[in-house]
Amino acid sequence: MSDSPRPVSLDEAGHRYLERQLETAAEFGLGDPGPRRILDVGCGWGATLRHLADVFPNCPRLDGINVSAEQLAYCARKMPGTDRVRLYLCDAADIAELPDSDQPYDLVVARGAITHFPPRVYESAAAALARRMRPGGLLVVSETLYSEEFLAGQQPSPVDADHLALEHRKSLRYLTDVLRHTGFRIRDERVLPTQEDAARWVLDLKSNIDVHFPQGASPPLEAIRNMAGALAVALLRHEASVHSIVAERRDT
Ligand SMILES: C[S@@+](CC[C@H](N)C(=O)[O-])C[C@H]1O[C@@H](n2cnc3c(N)ncnc32)[C@H](O)[C@@H]1O
Repeated sequence: MSDSPRPVSLDEAGHRYLERQLETAAEFGLGDPGPRRILDVGCGWGATLRHLADVFPNCPRLDGINVSAEQLAYCARKMPGTDRVRLYLCDAADIAELPDSDQPYDLVVARGAITHFPPRVYESAAAALARRMRPGGLLVVSETLYSEEFLAGQQPSPVDADHLALEHRKSLRYLTDVLRHTGFRIRDERVLPTQEDAARWVLDLKSNIDVHFPQGASPPLEAIRNMAGALAVALLRHEASVHSIVAERRDT
């Protein structure tokens, strides 16, 4: 069943979904005095970081990391005049190298990024996060995860055809096992948004491309068009689901 009483735009849907995740996380912490240092892993074009900067106006330090210099430059242009936000061209495998290791992270978000990480990068990132977060700190993950059966039947595609770095699909069990082994406790795990809403949003994405590029688009956009169609089918068949996970850094 759909969660949305009326159709909403992709931007609005993403915003609402982040709000729901932060409300869930707030049940396990984030209260007074609120986070003092936040990290957004794979910060994309910066929408989540901008939202977090608004939601936590007293947080003096929000870091964003990304491997895309182009996206980081865009993030910087969209967040002028604040020294609260720091942007780093940094692979998630190198989180341990981020500056100011004496100031632990209270809140880390990773939304839509882990799926792109090879397992070795994800495992290094999880171990580094465990070292860089304060005990009781919260990790908020949003990720499309696949059933074990789907992953077992997956055919590898040629590396040069993997424009979106989607070859590293993961299961819920793998993602959460790594977190448990590296020092986290899973506090909340749920499918969010619903299969129907998630499928509708990826089909909206596809139809945006169909409308604007009916005669064909650049290879990356064509890859997004194909991915969106295939993902919508996988969501509706329950071979894939978008999961919200809130994990707490355990006391050592
Ligand atoms: C699907 S986007 C999600 C962006 C953003 N978190 C959001 O919710 O809109 C995935 C992001 O992860 C970044 N990324 C991919 N691999 C990465 C890595 N190894 N280390 C850091 N960032 C990475 C990509 O450049 C991209 O910005």
